[in-house]
Amino acid sequence: MARAKISVIGAGNVGASCAMWAAEKELGDIVLLDIPDKVGVAQGKAIDLACCAPIERFDCNILGTADYADIANSDVVIVTAGIPRKPGMSRDDLIQTNVKIVKSVSEQIKQHAPDSVVIVVSNPLDAMVYTAWKTTGFPTNRILGQAGCLDVARFRTFIAWKIGCSVEDVSALLLGGHGDDMVPLPRYTSVHGVPVSQLLPNEVIEECVKRAMVGGGEIVKLMGTSAYYAPASGSVQMAEAIIKDKKRILPCAAYCNAEYNVGGYFVGVPAILGSGGMEKVITIDLEGDEQKLMDDSVSHVKDLVKVVADLFPELA
Ligand code: APR
Repeated sequence: MARAKISVIGAGNVGASCAMWAAEKELGDIVLLDIPDKVGVAQGKAIDLACCAPIERFDCNILGTADYADIANSDVVIVTAGIPRKPGMSRDDLIQTNVKIVKSVSEQIKQHAPDSVVIVVSNPLDAMVYTAWKTTGFPTNRILGQAGCLDVARFRTFIAWKIGCSVEDVSALLLGGHGDDMVPLPRYTSVHGVPVSQLLPNEVIEECVKRAMVGGGEIVKLMGTSAYYAPASGSVQMAEAIIKDKKRILPCAAYCNAEYNVGGYFVGVPAILGSGGMEKVITIDLEGDEQKLMDDSVSHVKDLVKVVADLFPELA
């Protein structure tokens, strides 16, 4: 059986970390692509990573390149091209620069990997997923955004720290856009089946919710640039579900129309991921404030998409 192929666009912090997690999981052959000016970086990181193989024990080819012809026949393309945040910036501040980058990358994906499933990581996430969708013209099941896997992983980590239990036993859910108005759902959070509300007081859960919502900003402030290990880990978790046709239910930016009354945008929802890409959006009941928080988050995503459409009317 032929190996799967994963191409990662952007060989920076997130892209190189994606390549690393994908190699470590032995998901398939990997292409790490950057702009011609940075082809040396892509090639150097590819060789560096390939030399981990004897120690970490994976068999796959890792190619660094600036030539889009090399992404041909990719099963999954992960888009990390774009600028990251600096302290004091929101993800939305990146839109003017990153929409141009993601548009040009998507044109190349359309040409060279027309059958791939695309996972976008560049920010502002929900608007960049929309940009990739409109530019490639791919069916909505083959366009996804990574945000929820990361945001939920952060939430699960903070909950586990508070309880003093294994992160593996914490299961959580989160909806909405990948902004500071994302919607973590403590009501759907459990620890080995036990509702988290039985294990932690409300104010501590709320503290974890808040920290997850601004978790990216906390790291930007400390490092001077945005996080990369966990965003990459979340992206590769999605790629693995697709490549292995695992039918995992993962939170990701997926196309929703009637679902959650979204009306034709990509927002964070739980979805089944398998060889068909995004195979089904899972809808859950929302109570009390939850639908309102979701509506607010979706309306923020719509505002960002409007910025994209104003810049590039052909993407409207
Ligand atoms: N094609 C390919 N690569 C590109 C292009 C392009 N058109 N434009 C920029 N890049 C590359 C840059 O050369 C750089 O190597 O994208 C890479 C981005 O890497 P970093 O600057 O290290 O940024 P990173 O931390 O990886 O974040 C990338 O992911 O999580 C998001 O908010 C983050 O939007 C940011 C993106």
